[in-house]
Amino acid sequence: MKKPFYVTTPIYYPSDNLHIGHTYCTVAADTIARFKRTMGYDVKFVTGTDEHGQKIQTVAQSKGMEPKEYVDGIVKNIKELWEKLEISYNGFRRTSDKDHAETVQKIFKKLYDQGDIYKSQYEGHYCTPCEAFWTESQLKDGKCPDCGREVQLAKEEAYFFKLSKYQDRLIKLLEENPEFLQPESRRNEMINNFLKPGLEDLCVTRSSFDWGIKVPFDEKHVIYVWIDALSSYISRIGYLQDDDSEFKKYWPADVHLVGKEIVRFHTIIWPALLMALGMDLPKKVFGHGWILFENDKMSKSKGNVIYPEPIIDLYGIDTLKYFLLREFTFGQDGSFSREKFLNRINSDLANDLGNLVSRTVAMISKYNDGIIPEPKEVGEYDEDLKTIATSTSDKVSKYIDKLDFSNALEEIWKLIRRTNKYIDETTPWILAKDESKKDRLDTVLYNLSESLRIVSVLIRPFMEKTSDSIWRQFGIEEGKGTLWEDLSEWNKLLSGIKVKKEGPMFPRLDVKKELQRLDEANDKLIESRKIVSKNEPEEDKKEVEEITIDDFDKLDLRVAEIVEAKKHPNADKLLIFKLKVGEEERQVVSGISKYYAPEELIGKKVILVANLKPIKLRGEKSHGMIMAAEKGDNLTLLSVLEDIESGAEVS
Ligand code: ME8
Ligand code: MG
Repeated sequence: MKKPFYVTTPIYYPSDNLHIGHTYCTVAADTIARFKRTMGYDVKFVTGTDEHGQKIQTVAQSKGMEPKEYVDGIVKNIKELWEKLEISYNGFRRTSDKDHAETVQKIFKKLYDQGDIYKSQYEGHYCTPCEAFWTESQLKDGKCPDCGREVQLAKEEAYFFKLSKYQDRLIKLLEENPEFLQPESRRNEMINNFLKPGLEDLCVTRSSFDWGIKVPFDEKHVIYVWIDALSSYISRIGYLQDDDSEFKKYWPADVHLVGKEIVRFHTIIWPALLMALGMDLPKKVFGHGWILFENDKMSKSKGNVIYPEPIIDLYGIDTLKYFLLREFTFGQDGSFSREKFLNRINSDLANDLGNLVSRTVAMISKYNDGIIPEPKEVGEYDEDLKTIATSTSDKVSKYIDKLDFSNALEEIWKLIRRTNKYIDETTPWILAKDESKKDRLDTVLYNLSESLRIVSVLIRPFMEKTSDSIWRQFGIEEGKGTLWEDLSEWNKLLSGIKVKKEGPMFPRLDVKKELQRLDEANDKLIESRKIVSKNEPEEDKKEVEEITIDDFDKLDLRVAEIVEAKKHPNADKLLIFKLKVGEEERQVVSGISKYYAPEELIGKKVILVANLKPIKLRGEKSHGMIMAAEKGDNLTLLSVLEDIESGAEVS
């Protein structure tokens, strides 16, 4: 029997336009799933959509739609995107599914019956016109932070989960079980910032809206979205349902992949719930970093969102998947740039891999009538190539287990580069000139092809289309030399097969030209999506981290005067400013050309984040960031009320 393996992504909030950051986690999970399948595991891979809550209800209302009707349309688009990316999930959880609601209600009832959920009062300051509860610290000058009106102390009936009861067990879990939460840094953060200061019981129902799963025995209450959402990982595999065979087989999950901002929910609330239910805990939660755009958070109003579709349409899925997993360290934030993307295609894919395949096929065609020869005379360098080739799979799988995709790929590329070097070392074109060297030439050509067999299977979970192309060119068939155990063996490739030359897998790109093309395609998509995105829910603002005054002190904020402003020669969205900051002159590039004409800004005083690390934006140096306020499609620059000299400190 195959060993089970269970991997999940978060379930996504229904959003019409998932960007490249959203695809990151799904691509990573897909790669793990495919990799484990190659290794012979029976893999369950679940993703889905998180469809309930006030925000969705409000947006649907504004469109004159029922919430379900509204989310149906969006979920269809999300599934289309996953299809386009060939994501190999085999379980999709919509929280609006009926069997999900049943499981969640049973969980709620069970916890209530055993006393882990209790009814009490939610106390807060209530703003009647806004129908919203606020805590003391959320109030602005003692008034409603939204509308500024008077609030009343009020109580509302609600249900609470005894989260505090699990505090010690959670601390123990995180401290004694380093594998449970990775990477390490996030574990320390959870322990020191959340667990050690103390947990309060969690309010797990809402009664101000009704688009959600109802408390089964008290229908004016809707179950809190996070209890609803987290339960999807077990509801999708049949927990508390008639047929729970998948649950029995796959639970506990081997790994939940989640973005860093939702680690807290997955490593505090989720294990506490599971402990209360008396269940096994997931073996690992991995909190990955964010993909930024040129060091900035992607946002629709800044117009700096990168969508996956244009990249896929222009360069294929494999390039995108490869880049995302190779360029960034999974546990850390990474900054997307089109230049980096195009340069990687050229260096790693066109130069290293593409060339190796086309040179090998070309030499077999030229020197052996296109037939893969049998290996004959052994020579120098063979042993080294063989040793590296047959030991790569083991190294790669160790990195995959650590979710270190970048180093996993690097190991494969070490083999690719070693194989390219083998060509230079053995010089087949010289061997070909001498009839007496034919046996040696045959071995060299065979070894090159054999190394590519191993490469083709190892890259397959990351880039299936590329792997397919190599298989077609070398006549490799599934199951013949492509099993996991075949990767640590040599001389598995069949000889006597005719190679089939294909066009270059990754034609070399003219970076300057492609930058323009990619930019245009992305802008066109942004434009076409503007109409749709207007009414979408705002980004989740709840999870903003608290900082101390010391954190704030790290910022050097200054008043700066704009002395020059012009359009960026190579990017429509960007303006280039010369700023006077006291005695100093600075150049800063800012993506605000949609909101301001350069000439109207000259002489204006703005607020500059002065100690931001300098970067280059489209070839122009940018040292610092001009602050702006934004909401929806509006953006306005920050300034000072009264005139003050440039260089003045802001604190
Ligand atoms: O949080 N880079 O859903 P979501 C990397 N419904 N990852 C990013 C990203 C970026 N720029 N932007 C978003 C939710 N993500 C909840 C989850 S699970 C029980 C409920 C990631 O649609 C983000 O970190 O806001 C998260 O892991 C995922 O996209 C879904 O985010
Ligand atoms: Mg989010």
